[in-house]
Amino acid sequence: MIDFKDIHFIDNPYPALKELRSIGKPVWHQELQLFLAAKYSDANDVLRNKSLGRIFIPRSPESEWFEYNYLHADSILDSEPPKHTRLRSLVAKAFNRQRIEGLRPDIERLTHQLLDNIQAKGGEFDVIADYAEPLPVKVIAALLGFPDSDEYLLRPWSQSIVKMYEVNPTEAYKAEAKKAAKEFAAYIHDLMLERLEKPGDDLISELAQVTESGEKLSTHELIATCVLLLNAGHEASVNGFGNGIVAAYQHPDQWKLLQSQAETIAATAVEEFLRFDAPLHFFDRTATADTEIGGVEIKKGQKIVSLLGSANRDEDVFDNSDQMDLTRNPNPHIGFGAGIHFCLGGPLARLEMSISLPELFKRFPTLELTGTPVRRPTFSLRGYESVMAKVK
Ligand code: HEM
Repeated sequence: MIDFKDIHFIDNPYPALKELRSIGKPVWHQELQLFLAAKYSDANDVLRNKSLGRIFIPRSPESEWFEYNYLHADSILDSEPPKHTRLRSLVAKAFNRQRIEGLRPDIERLTHQLLDNIQAKGGEFDVIADYAEPLPVKVIAALLGFPDSDEYLLRPWSQSIVKMYEVNPTEAYKAEAKKAAKEFAAYIHDLMLERLEKPGDDLISELAQVTESGEKLSTHELIATCVLLLNAGHEASVNGFGNGIVAAYQHPDQWKLLQSQAETIAATAVEEFLRFDAPLHFFDRTATADTEIGGVEIKKGQKIVSLLGSANRDEDVFDNSDQMDLTRNPNPHIGFGAGIHFCLGGPLARLEMSISLPELFKRFPTLELTGTPVRRPTFSLRGYESVMAKVK
């Protein structure tokens, strides 16, 4: 059975995932004690089935994990209705298509600034550190009103927390996650108190007022919501961009398309980036009642994982599913999930990438990658540490 920590598997999980799909139904993973849903129809059903919930189990001892636990137990992502409905509706309006579209000029300005910096550096740059990472970090920080001067703290905090989402996190990952959760929660709490005194035109101020005016959001819920938005607001976007760029470079015909008509194909290219090499792979659910997925009975209390990256390569849904096609249309990938936890930031992620991708190729039409891109050794959140490139 698949070893999700195996570096060779992480390097290219697709052949093993294809084999798993060929079984035709969810499969029991003995070591992890859970089912794996690899086919598109099953992975999609897992996310939509009302008897399967995102159930967070607090880590113990509580004294060590206090902040980590409430950052999850009180967040949108790790709660279920009715709490989920209440938390999600409070922030949903900030992420609606119209409000997000209003960020276009800011995103264009930030994109140009990053490209100017790259140009000023001369020949070589890192697609991740110099472009894919700073854009979503800056955009989500600005939206929440997180201070510019401290933006550098966000990716390390987020990285330390999300490593806990990997299969069997190591002791070192656990120690890092506890520390980051404590620091991040304390920072956001202080910021929230500041914004209560002196509100600004940002989402943290807006949310802080909500706590005061009703009892709609508790302090922990507010902190957890801000931390989730700051983390979710950039992690997958960075990896989605990096994975897509490397995959396109490995398909010379697709790279040529980007060089010659990135602007025209931007919308379909972004979707194919997210389908072809998914930034997020592994989302589990727990049965709150006996249920069934793909003809397999899932008993109350058992877990089943929706394997998004595998679903997006399902040959029953996508023609030539192992082929990258930046003009693919329709492209019903489930990279943003499905059901009640469907990604709240989809419109924002799509807007950012649909600007930053063509702008990169417009500015540097002769862009080439150099050396071997360096992968992070993680599967659930799969992406590159660094992708070196050069411009002539
Ligand atoms: C390419 C980028 C992105 C991808 C692939 C992605 C993917 C996902 C997926 C798969 C889920 C569902 C998880 C589940 O069902 O267990 C999710 C949830 C979520 N995402 Fe994203 N996301 C991206 C960008 C963003 C951005 C920019 C934000 C902005 C804040 C964001 C905020 C959220 C939130 C708040 C949730 C939780 C929704 C809920 O539980 O109701 N995401 N995302």
